[in-house]
Parts: sequence; C-alpha cells; structure tokens
Amino acid sequence: MLYRIARSGFFQLDAEKAHDLAIQNFKRFTGTPLDLLYRQHLPHRPVECMGLTFKNPVGLAAGLDKNGECIDAFGAMGFGFVEVGTVTPKPQPGNDKPRLFRLVEAEGIINRMGFNNQGVDQLIENVKKANYDGVLGINIGKNKDTPIEKGSDDYLICMEKVYPYAGYIAVNISSPNTPGLRSLQYGEALDELLTLLKAKQAELAKQHDKYVPLALKIAPDLSDDELEQICQSLLRNNIDGVIATNTTLDRSIVTGMKHATEAGGLSGRPVQLRSTEVIRKLYQELGEQIPIIGVGGIDSYVSAKEKLLAGAKLVQVYTGFIYHGPGLVRDIVKNL
Ligand SMILES: Cc1cc2nc3c(=O)[nH]c(=O)nc-3n(C[C@H](O)[C@H](O)[C@H](O)COP(=O)(O)O)c2cc1C
Repeated sequence: MLYRIARSGFFQLDAEKAHDLAIQNFKRFTGTPLDLLYRQHLPHRPVECMGLTFKNPVGLAAGLDKNGECIDAFGAMGFGFVEVGTVTPKPQPGNDKPRLFRLVEAEGIINRMGFNNQGVDQLIENVKKANYDGVLGINIGKNKDTPIEKGSDDYLICMEKVYPYAGYIAVNISSPNTPGLRSLQYGEALDELLTLLKAKQAELAKQHDKYVPLALKIAPDLSDDELEQICQSLLRNNIDGVIATNTTLDRSIVTGMKHATEAGGLSGRPVQLRSTEVIRKLYQELGEQIPIIGVGGIDSYVSAKEKLLAGAKLVQVYTGFIYHGPGLVRDIVKNL
C-alpha cells in the first residue's frame, strides 16, 4: 500500500530522475528511524550455493545500485543477497540522456545506461562503509573506451580490486549497451577470458586466503547452440556460477507500445519467459555441476518459483522491484 503511493509519485517523474531520487532517499534514511518505511523481517530460508550460505534465495540484480551506495537499505528490505555494479576500472558517465524508459503496460523497462558508474575505487569505499550481513555480489565490466581486444584487462583490474570485499564476483559480458561487449560470449574469446579470470582467481585466493566464486552473466538473446557452447566453456574452466539473464534486444512482445522502439535492453515481464527458457536449457547442459542464478521478469512468487523449478538455485529481481517494491521480496520469501 505504502509502496503503491510512493510509486504513483515516482512514476510522475522522468524514470532516471525517479531512480536517482530513490537512491538518495535510501542513502539518507539508512540508520535513521525512517528506514522503518521499508524494513522487513522475513523468514529465514537458507540456501547453499557456490560454497556460500544465502539467508534466502532472493537477491537484488545488478544495475540498480551501481556504486554500492545503499547496500544496507536493500539489506533492510530482506534481500538474501545484493549485487552491486556493474562497475568499471575508471568512472564513466554512460550514454546521453534520456536513456531509461518505462513500458508501463508491459511492466517493462528499456535502458541504454551504458555502465554509468563512479569507478571501482569509489565502489570499494562505499562497500567498506556498509554493514550488510548477507552475501554481497560485485558485478564487473569494461570501460567503453577500452578496445574490446583489451577488455580482459579491465575485468582483471576490477577483479583484483574488488576481490577482498566480494562474496562473489559477477562477470558481465552481456550488456547490450557497451559496443562489442556481447562478442565476449562466443567461442575462443570466451574461453580466453574465462581462462584468464580463473588464473587470477587462483592467484588472489592464495594471496587473500579466501576463495571468491566467479559467476558469468549472459544474455537471453542466444541460440541453443550458443548456449551449449557457453556451457562447455563454463565447465572446461570450472566457473562457479552462471547468471541468466541480462536484458533482451527482442521487441516482439512490446511491438506498438510507447517507447518500444527505443534502443537498449528490455527487462521485466517481456523477458520473463525467455529467461526461464534459457535457465531450463542451461540446467539441461549443466545439471548440478554449476549453479544457475535466475533473473528476468520476476514479478511474483509464482514467476520466481518457475525459475527455481527450471533449475535456478537463486533468483534476482530488478524491474519487478521497480513495479512492486519491497513487498515483492516479502511475497517470494514468505511463500517459499
Ligand atoms: C535500468 C537497468 C540497468 C541495468 N544495469 C545493469 C548493469 O549495470 N549490469 C548488469 O549486469 N545488469 C544490469 N541490468 C540488468 C538486470 O540486472 C537484469 O539482469 C535484467 O534487467 C533482467 O531482470 P529484470 O527483468 O528483473 O529487470 C540493468 C537493468 C535495468 C533495468
């Protein structure tokens, strides 16, 4: 009820302004009595995954708290894990505005943010200040001005810096808004990247006496053949997890709707079915060998459960959270 009132105010504003205002408020309210506005005490539903214990299987997906500015606020809402980022080695402004659009009839969002973020060093400063006691995922990417052939350097720089502070590290090669990024999902380019990341992980595990799992985040716009090849590469390189999926370029479900022709990645209900299909295919290939984190269009307990039944061990929400608020996390966790 409270969220519905807040939402009607936020939805009067331009989408990115509303986002910035929400982040500012979360920052301001944390640690004050005002955090009672969104604090929720949820039942304990522990899940073991990637060698970590999650207090419940519902996480915040990457992109909402790109700089890790309000980790404690999301913790207060009861999320079992929070994934911050995508963060890049250097700060960058992202694409020109407007770059974020609501497709209200479809409960969808189109974004072409382009990894706007304050850089990995600032993210680490923010993470150090947080008191969240759940699992913190840190999602890493490459700067726009780093040529794609040198993309792995950016992932290695971020990995080295975030390693001591991360519960797990998510490797984002599936944003449609950084030119060339998705090419890293294929063939030799993927194998090379995963080999480098795995070697770096071994080195850092020794140095810090701590093993931080690596999860690869993939797009929904991949054929069955391409998914099979990705699975082979994940298995060959002993990657610890796979996050499926990022946003889609497919507009078939939203044709004719306002903003449907905006460039960028589409999320929310229009990607729900496709992302579940990808999870099912991944599970067919990977079985219990590599855990799947399911994300894409989760807007209720039922759609979360569909992802879990398709083979996901954990789920994440972004767009559903924008449309339904913290009550979505409560509804899913309570019914599990
Ligand atoms: C505005 C916006 C920004 C996003 N930024 C990122 C990002 O920086 N890194 C990333 O891995 N995914 C990003 N995503 C993708 C989400 O994490 C998620 O994979 C996708 O939106 C599907 O889930 P959903 O339907 O619950 O939103 C973003 C999504 C949205 C809507």
